[in-house]
Amino acid sequence: MSKNKYIIIALDGAAGSGKSTTAKAVCQKFKYIHVDTGLHYRSLCLYFLNKNISADKVCDYLSCNSISMNSVIDDFSVYLSLDGHHFSSEQLRNQEMNKNVSYYARLPELRNLLLNYQRDLCAYGQKSGFSGIIMDGRDIGSVVLPDADLKFFLHADLSIRQQRRSSDGETDSISGRDKLDSTRKTAPLVCPADAISINTGLHTIDHVVDLFSQHILSLG
Ligand code: CDP
Repeated sequence: MSKNKYIIIALDGAAGSGKSTTAKAVCQKFKYIHVDTGLHYRSLCLYFLNKNISADKVCDYLSCNSISMNSVIDDFSVYLSLDGHHFSSEQLRNQEMNKNVSYYARLPELRNLLLNYQRDLCAYGQKSGFSGIIMDGRDIGSVVLPDADLKFFLHADLSIRQQRRSSDGETDSISGRDKLDSTRKTAPLVCPADAISINTGLHTIDHVVDLFSQHILSLG
């Protein structure tokens, strides 16, 4: 691999497929920056819930208001702040958010709002001194970063994914979210044709990280 090439990796998969755990471990190993785009949708969802704006009113709100979006780096991750405020993980990952987020995430206006911000994070990570970026979500390889150097798609049986959520202490109707995320019109959850697909139910996390590492090291 050319020593100075900044590597862009798109990582997609359904809830509980192991995206964040894998991305964090690979980012630490290769000094890459991690972007969890699920947190972007969770942050906007909470932003609107706090203002009592239901999903069907978001479009009207955005037509006459702007939201300032900024980035905050913490260790190997970059987080989104909205109007100068960055929500905590406890505020974003709970039953209420799991229940609501996909209804906001399916809105084209809201996805448009995030698209350029998410794309610009590649240059932001490079300027901040990282050697690459892993962006995880549902539409990263298909829509946000279609020219990524590598694309991965993680999956696992529903029962395994549900079990992972319960052992994290989260109440999460994974099958309901899967359905909303994969059947929406704009940027549904899909496995891109050129993605490397891995069933994380068949491997330990260390093995999945090894598989990622092999692909990264085999780049040009
Ligand atoms: O962690 P988990 O996989 O359960 O979910 P998440 O990555 O935090 O994403 C929360 C929700 O945001 C998803 O269920 C999708 O509705 C939405 N999302 C999306 O639409 N597009 C993305 N790129 C990332 C998340």
